[in-house]
Amino acid sequence: MGIQISPSILAADFANLERDIASVANADWLHVDVMDAHFVPNLTLGLPVLERIAQVSPMPVDAHLMIEDPDHWAPKYAEAGATSVTFHYEAAKDPVAIAKDLRALGARASVALKPGTDVDVVLDHLREFDMVLVMTVEPGFGGQSFMPEMLPKFTALRAAAEAAGHDLWLQSDGGVSRDTIEDIAAAGCDVFVAGSAVFGADDREAEISALRDLAARARPA
Ligand code: DX5
Ligand code: ZN
Repeated sequence: MGIQISPSILAADFANLERDIASVANADWLHVDVMDAHFVPNLTLGLPVLERIAQVSPMPVDAHLMIEDPDHWAPKYAEAGATSVTFHYEAAKDPVAIAKDLRALGARASVALKPGTDVDVVLDHLREFDMVLVMTVEPGFGGQSFMPEMLPKFTALRAAAEAAGHDLWLQSDGGVSRDTIEDIAAAGCDVFVAGSAVFGADDREAEISALRDLAARARPA
């Protein structure tokens, strides 16, 4: 799979979501941040809103669940229309069981790691997941600075996936911009979430194209 760009609607206008989603229609995915004010100190949206977003979005939806009890909730986001469901390892009782449930519903199964969580926790079960999200900021808020000390996680995960012969997607979320995307791509990341960089741009589609081109050129052969 080539480079993919996934704008985060956390930086969109929540009173004009359909309009703002249409303004990033050349993206590969739409990243929807679900926060419950428990797993993270912020609150966004839940199942009914995600369901309508999935109905109107020209791009497939990746639901990033920053919530407690994903064992219970993650499958419901697949049923509500998310093509990919990303849940946090730190919140899960049985991450492999959640991934199996998601795949059984026809969704892509993705696990997210907070900055303080080592990649070792998923290495033994890499084939159970379609994507690993490496948080490159502390989850909860947009507009934070990229944490360069997360780059070795992509290198380690890419090497492990190649050794396992597994087409694992690696996603970065937090602080992705024209200034940081080349280093992240060079480390082995192929799916890039960008909130403020895309929605803060005057020409959002041009920004998506620019980010995609920068990452494609920086990606290891
Ligand atoms: C933060 C969210 C991100 C956020 C990224 O917890 O998971 O998706 O929207 O925002 P930027 O791209 O502005 O760092
Ligand atoms: Zn996110």
